[in-house]
Amino acid sequence: MKQSEHHKQAVQTTGHAWDGDIQEYNNPLPRWWVWTFFGTVVFAVVYWLIYPAWPVGKSYTKGLFNTITFQTRDGQEVTTHWNTRSRFIADMQRGEAAVKQREYLEKIGQSSYQDIVNDPDKMGFVLSMSKVLFADNCAACHGAGAQGKIGLFPNLVDDDWLWGGTFEDIHQTIANGRLGFMPPFRDTFSAEDLRALAAFVLSLSGITDGHDAARVARGREIFTGEEGGCYYCHGKDARGMKSQGSANLTDKIWTVADVPGAPTYEAKLQAVEEVIQNGINRRMPAWKGRLSEEQIKLLTVYIHQLGGGQ
Ligand code: HEC
Ligand code: HEC
Repeated sequence: MKQSEHHKQAVQTTGHAWDGDIQEYNNPLPRWWVWTFFGTVVFAVVYWLIYPAWPVGKSYTKGLFNTITFQTRDGQEVTTHWNTRSRFIADMQRGEAAVKQREYLEKIGQSSYQDIVNDPDKMGFVLSMSKVLFADNCAACHGAGAQGKIGLFPNLVDDDWLWGGTFEDIHQTIANGRLGFMPPFRDTFSAEDLRALAAFVLSLSGITDGHDAARVARGREIFTGEEGGCYYCHGKDARGMKSQGSANLTDKIWTVADVPGAPTYEAKLQAVEEVIQNGINRRMPAWKGRLSEEQIKLLTVYIHQLGGGQ
């Protein structure tokens, strides 16, 4: 009580009283507050003058001394008042990073693959750009590390290729897409012959249980004969054909049959039998039209250096 009585005498009040005794002090505004307030007023006026600000009829004030110049698609130079869209376009056209990137892309477009690979400067650019392209467009299927998934998407890191691993092959794959097709052989073979085929396929990469020589011989007969017709696509030597995208069955790399994941010989046989019975139908989409020619080139180099060759 004493305290408030003291204040009553020291500080002016506005003279209003609520509920009988609640009063309002009449202190001056703090100086810092007043200056800040005037500061914002001055800032606002300057801002309104320089930037587009006030609606006027169907238009608006465009701002003074503040223009942006950029090029339209057909190469004409245009100068407009400041606006975020033009500024973005101008940045894309003239920003340091953008100019450098365009120069590089043009250089890449004109270089042969051999040139690119032999030039560490170009290669550095290609790898940084293509990593982003791969993450945006390819990783959803092939995995972030391009390791793929057996049965679904081929591994792009190994140096085994369904469709060939030269620059031209890879470029073709990415630009035009590929269809990996093997017909289903459901009910084509007796259970014994199916098993013989699987045993033969496994034996090609050295997987055997030691007692299957007769079975393997029977499997080879079917594979290379008219009965199975497997050799049409895989070749008599079972090394696959680039033109068909047919897997090389003699290496230890599996792209559809999950042989590595099968724990026992019996399970490996089953994994191969399953693929023979179900066939294969998987598609790599075409990117021509969705990606520019330069972008496809960047990705081709990227994929090639992951596991290219032959
Ligand atoms: C929708 C899933 C999908 C996307 C997205 C995809 N791929 Fe593929 N890709 C596949 C499939 C499926 C195959 C296997 C085709 C086959 O079985 O012959 C494949 C095959 C390939 C091959 C051939 C591999 C070989 O052994 O010959 C390359 C190279 C390849 N993809 C690169 C790319 C690149 C680069 C991108 C991104 C621009 C990409 N893929 C995006 C599904 C995809
Ligand atoms: C019309 C062509 C065609 C014929 C006929 C064919 N294949 Fe295939 N085969 C393919 C293609 C193409 C692939 C690879 C598909 C892919 O990876 O997308 C493949 C893949 C395989 C695979 C999986 C290999 C792996 O790495 O996982 C096995 C096993 C196989 N074939 C066995 C056979 C056997 C056994 C026969 C005969 C009964 C046969 N194929 C007949 C085209 C054919």
